[in-house]
Amino acid sequence: MNSSISLAKAYEKYFKIGAAVSPRYLETYDSLLKTHFNSLTCENQMKYAVVEPEEGKFEFEEADKVIAFAREMGVKLRAHAPVWHNQTGAWMYKDGDKPAPKELIYERIDAHTKAIAEHFNDDVYCWDVVNEATFDEDLGQVDDSVVYRNSEYYKLCGPEFLVKAFQSMDKYSPNAQLFYNDYNEFEPRKRKRIVALLKYLQENGCRLDGFGLQQHFNSMPDYDEVKRSIEEYASLGLRLHVTELDVSMMAVAGLKRRAKPGTPEYAQFVKACLHPTPEQIAMIDTIYEELFKIYRSYSDVIDCVTTWGVADDYTWLDSFGSDPNLPGVKHYPLLFDVDHNPKPCVLNMIDACL
Ligand code: GLA
Repeated sequence: MNSSISLAKAYEKYFKIGAAVSPRYLETYDSLLKTHFNSLTCENQMKYAVVEPEEGKFEFEEADKVIAFAREMGVKLRAHAPVWHNQTGAWMYKDGDKPAPKELIYERIDAHTKAIAEHFNDDVYCWDVVNEATFDEDLGQVDDSVVYRNSEYYKLCGPEFLVKAFQSMDKYSPNAQLFYNDYNEFEPRKRKRIVALLKYLQENGCRLDGFGLQQHFNSMPDYDEVKRSIEEYASLGLRLHVTELDVSMMAVAGLKRRAKPGTPEYAQFVKACLHPTPEQIAMIDTIYEELFKIYRSYSDVIDCVTTWGVADDYTWLDSFGSDPNLPGVKHYPLLFDVDHNPKPCVLNMIDACL
């Protein structure tokens, strides 16, 4: 198999192949991106904190670098992710010294949405309008009646902020697809919460075109649950994108979910994966091949599969949530290795399409 054959070309009959990227990595990934991908996502540069660091002060330069690159490639972006509890300035939730009334938050979301839509719309085919608004078991134990994350947005507005965010985006981006995006979406209890949220949006008349399955794997995927999730989300009449795929070494270490620094599980993970064997690294390939087999079999509902990064030399996982008292573990979570060569799984995934 010729390693320069394009992954994106091979998958044209199934779905787009996307990558999340930051402007500072565009040069180093120039050739990989142009050869193997046909959709881009800004890793951070379209988020609230970057685009509107202070109320009414808009900064588009960083995102525009990715946009210019996408234009060179002849592709459009999955735009990600304005309304999110993270990476948003504290000003959003305040009115002077007081908590902002919900009407003010809706005005701010509307003004922001108008500005980003006017600036980016020609280059965007899809918006993750809201990100991660459901409760996640990582935050603690609660019963199944709790659907939403107790974010500042939720505390000040209840779930209505979701509806307002979608209404604004629909008004200013009538031609882009509108998505809700979330993680651990393959876990049965989380899935129930996400389905409740998606139905809430639909029942409130929002234009919701699709659901983004982040697919960050910090444990060995339960492939049956991945399939069940795809089926259940698609049964709501939604298009699906895999939006942030990566397979962490934690999956190889046999963890049940992301291990937090300071826990015995984290120490076990460091011990198991500090000096990974070729067999351990090859497990990531095997997982990718299994996942892509599933994605291909659901290509009637999946339109895009995006990895959260391009190659193993740069991944958020290498620095996120590590333990300062223990050596850092490298994660090898992507489809291309540290030297930008396609991993064996890429060649097999291409072969599977021929
Ligand atoms: C989440 C967000 C992404 C990104 C990743 C980690 O999944 O949706 O925007 O921040 O975490 O980098």
